[in-house]
Amino acid sequence: MSEPSMRSAWSNRWTFIMATAGSAIGLGNIWKFPYMTGVNGGSAFVLVFLGCILLVGIPLMMCEIMLGRRAQKNPADGMLHLAREASASPHWRWVGLIGVLTGVLILTFYSVIGGWVIRYILHALAGDFDGANSTIIGNMFSGMLASASSLLFWHTLFTAMTVWVVARGVNHGLEKASKILMPSLFVILLLLLIYSMVEGDFGRALDFMFTPDFSKVTPQAALSALGHAFFSLSLGMGAVMVYGSYLQRHVSIARTSFYIAIADTLVALLAGLTIYALVFKHQLDPSAGPGLIFQTLPLAFGQMWGGQVVGTLFFILVTFAAWTSSISLIEPATAWITENTSVSRSAAAYLIGFCTWLLGISVVLSFNIWQDVQIISGLGIFDTLDKLTTTILLPLGGLMMALFAGWVMRTQHVREELGLQPRTYAIWRFIIRYISPLAITVIFLSLIGLIGS
Ligand code: PHE
Repeated sequence: MSEPSMRSAWSNRWTFIMATAGSAIGLGNIWKFPYMTGVNGGSAFVLVFLGCILLVGIPLMMCEIMLGRRAQKNPADGMLHLAREASASPHWRWVGLIGVLTGVLILTFYSVIGGWVIRYILHALAGDFDGANSTIIGNMFSGMLASASSLLFWHTLFTAMTVWVVARGVNHGLEKASKILMPSLFVILLLLLIYSMVEGDFGRALDFMFTPDFSKVTPQAALSALGHAFFSLSLGMGAVMVYGSYLQRHVSIARTSFYIAIADTLVALLAGLTIYALVFKHQLDPSAGPGLIFQTLPLAFGQMWGGQVVGTLFFILVTFAAWTSSISLIEPATAWITENTSVSRSAAAYLIGFCTWLLGISVVLSFNIWQDVQIISGLGIFDTLDKLTTTILLPLGGLMMALFAGWVMRTQHVREELGLQPRTYAIWRFIIRYISPLAITVIFLSLIGLIGS
């Protein structure tokens, strides 16, 4: 096993912020957040989401980075090491092991959707949306899903892109990719935002997303917002923990967590505004659900001035966002193999990539040939994996990490690592000990209830 001194480390705190923001900013921000906002009544959902990020998301992100940096190991061995340090049960390593597995499971479907996005870059570039009506665009989407070979091709490409980066290591892979992709992502998002301010119905988008209407805050919207805060900040599976394990000792965990959460939230909000300004301008349905960026938005691209360029840029933006997230999904597993065996990092990355690719084939088939295959309570393969990971495994992982940091670790070790002022520390500790576990338990139980119904 590598000694702490031999571990890779980020070049500086900005590269850490960039890489972790890269993990956080993904399909969750540009695909999921906008459609969830539409489905859950707009501003009500947005406000609760912001509250969740601030109250639970940031403290939990600090917790996960703290665990990683203190352990200086992959999540599984890291939890074991920290448990020993606290004279606690070695079974805590299961939190890390399950996290490693969760990342692999998420990538199996994340890469399939990432593949759709790459396919859509080509559609946009070829001008396929130009003047198309909703039937044509609908057929384009269902036609893509119906073709197993085409989905397999794009899934393979996205997995290969992910593995290629991870195999190159922390500095030459993860760090370099984030340094190139993240600034490009911000520039593209800004261009699209300016376009939609000028050409779209920006006023209505602002109104839809921000005019507070607390009567619309249903328990269901609140629960979705809390669950999505975890997914969006990449919490609960060790991605942030392993990134934290490459962080130098002197960097402030509180400040960096804050920056990362701000960047993640800002991208979600700006992507939402950009999309809704175009959706409203063209009188389209804001509550279209998961098809929002694949079926609704292309209609707008097809009708607007410069839509070919704007559409292409948009799908490039989503690809970049998804790519920097997918690398963080298999980094825990790759680090785990590398630090426990004599297998090289690149071989480990290819091995994990091969496993996710193989499992991902079942997700590919769940959209066509295996469409009728049901796993649990009427859910198909894709939905089962999505629900199992994002609504059960991530909150469970987050809960366990909060309990571990709040109740099991020695206070002195936590304080040393966080280096907070006494008052700030007391607030953080209160949240991690009581508020986060309570909030997670509530979403966890209610979501299990929902799945069963
Ligand atoms: N945060 C990513 C997104 O918003 C998804 C993700 C979840 C990545 C968990 C890593 C770990 O798309």
